[in-house]
Amino acid sequence: MLLPEVLLASYRREGEAGRAWIAALPTLVEESLARWDLVPDGVPGSGEASLVLPVRATDGGRAVLKFQPPRDESRAAVVGLRAWDGAGIVRLIDHDPASTTMLLERLDGSRSLADVGDDDTAMGVLAELMRGLTAVPAPAGLRGLADIATAMLDEVPAALRSLADPDERRLLRSCADAVTDLVDEPGDRLLHWDLHYGNVLAGEREPWLAIDPEPLAGDPGFDLMPALDSEWDAVVAAGAPTRTVDRRFDLLTDALDLDRSRAAGWTLGRVLQNSLWDIEDGRTALAPGQIIVARAMLAR
Ligand SMILES: Nc1ncnc2c1ncn2[C@@H]1O[C@H](COP(=O)(O)OP(=O)(O)O)[C@@H](O)[C@H]1O
Ligand SMILES: [Mg+2]
Repeated sequence: MLLPEVLLASYRREGEAGRAWIAALPTLVEESLARWDLVPDGVPGSGEASLVLPVRATDGGRAVLKFQPPRDESRAAVVGLRAWDGAGIVRLIDHDPASTTMLLERLDGSRSLADVGDDDTAMGVLAELMRGLTAVPAPAGLRGLADIATAMLDEVPAALRSLADPDERRLLRSCADAVTDLVDEPGDRLLHWDLHYGNVLAGEREPWLAIDPEPLAGDPGFDLMPALDSEWDAVVAAGAPTRTVDRRFDLLTDALDLDRSRAAGWTLGRVLQNSLWDIEDGRTALAPGQIIVARAMLAR
């Protein structure tokens, strides 16, 4: 089968394990179709990491198969989707533990919240979904925010040495300070971790449903970032990014009834997480969008 170019390109940049996975993917697709007695039913969708193949069952039922490398995140997705059980999020019909392939309810892959013109309307829908998702207590077996925060703080000294600009070093240190203040109260809710506009698709049983979780246990404040910088290029093009971040932050914290200073603190934790990854990738400057979000949070 023909794999989407965006997926092939992303795995060309990967290490050996990723390249082996993509090479074996056509075989895995055939095996999975046979396993669940399915036939392909439309053009495959894909992000950078996974292949999503629309399929039809012999009884005519429509679903998708999601293929992804068998990493911890893929296993966490199964744990989270089971706990949510379709409430506000795509339903997991079945999965193969060995390959972590998931058989999921079919949604409208061509219509996401990114296609809704009005930002307050789109963010209102996303906030309502996030409220429901993060109301669920995290089940056992997921990574916790205390762990993640502690591991991040360990990396800060070396990361600071990699940043060229002293102002950016100060900013990253403020993010780390915020995490230090919160690390003893990491929270215990089931977080989606990647709830941005593109990860909310139109559905039939509900107008909108989330997809693509990378679940962890933690404070809902740590879940806001992908919403705050959703469709960032468009936010920047509209000309007032700080205002948009503030507006989105107010809307989300109101809808989720969050303490604003804690939510700002955990959002600085996400700036830290994103920046540590960028630095690990060899970058020596912070991403401009991350700087804008960090400054907006510190001004709170
Ligand atoms: N349940 C679904 N029904 C229909 N299309 C889907 C479904 N899940 C994902 N897709 C399509 O596949 C794309 C990538 O899916 P996603 O789960 O977000 O993967 P990634 O981890 O690569 O971002 C989506 O943007 C959408 O177009
Ligand atoms: Mg996605």
